[in-house]
Amino acid sequence: MHSFGYRANALLTFTITILAAICTIASLSDTLNSISPTATVKKKSTGDDEVAVTLDISADLQSLFTWNTKQVFVFLAAEYSTPKNSLNQVSLWDGIIPAKEDAVFSIKTKNKYRFIDQGSNLRGRDFNLTLHWHVMPKTGKMFADKLVLPGFRLPESYR
Ligand SMILES: *[C@@H]1O[C@H](CO)[C@@H](O)[C@H](O)[C@H]1NC(C)=O
Repeated sequence: MHSFGYRANALLTFTITILAAICTIASLSDTLNSISPTATVKKKSTGDDEVAVTLDISADLQSLFTWNTKQVFVFLAAEYSTPKNSLNQVSLWDGIIPAKEDAVFSIKTKNKYRFIDQGSNLRGRDFNLTLHWHVMPKTGKMFADKLVLPGFRLPESYR
């Protein structure tokens, strides 16, 4: 008796989890309404390249919120490759979304963390922007995923 009830309950939980996962995947493309970065590259006195980015981010992350969501941590990173490293990841912006009501937002911001690369590797460099999110639940395991936006390029010349 007990074991049957328990199993039925486990199955139900599993089904709901799968459904929730499917819903989340289905709505990923809706999450970022628009993102437009503008960047300039300058040469520092040390000889390293530094990029200044202005970000226009408009997102709707409401689909990440369920009854079991405590808060969502999001960060936006630039990913690029250089002759030295096949993958470089620089975090540009991050934030904590405490509630579903705060999950629809539109911000214009400069990069929060410094975007520097050793040497002169950044001019004309192709990069992807990736939006990562970590969903912190009230109970259960943390869930993380990301959305890759490929096809950005840094300016060809120093400013
Ligand atoms: C950028 O994204 C494209 C397509 O998803 C991928 O092929 C490429 O490896 C990515 N570049 C980096 C540096 O992550």
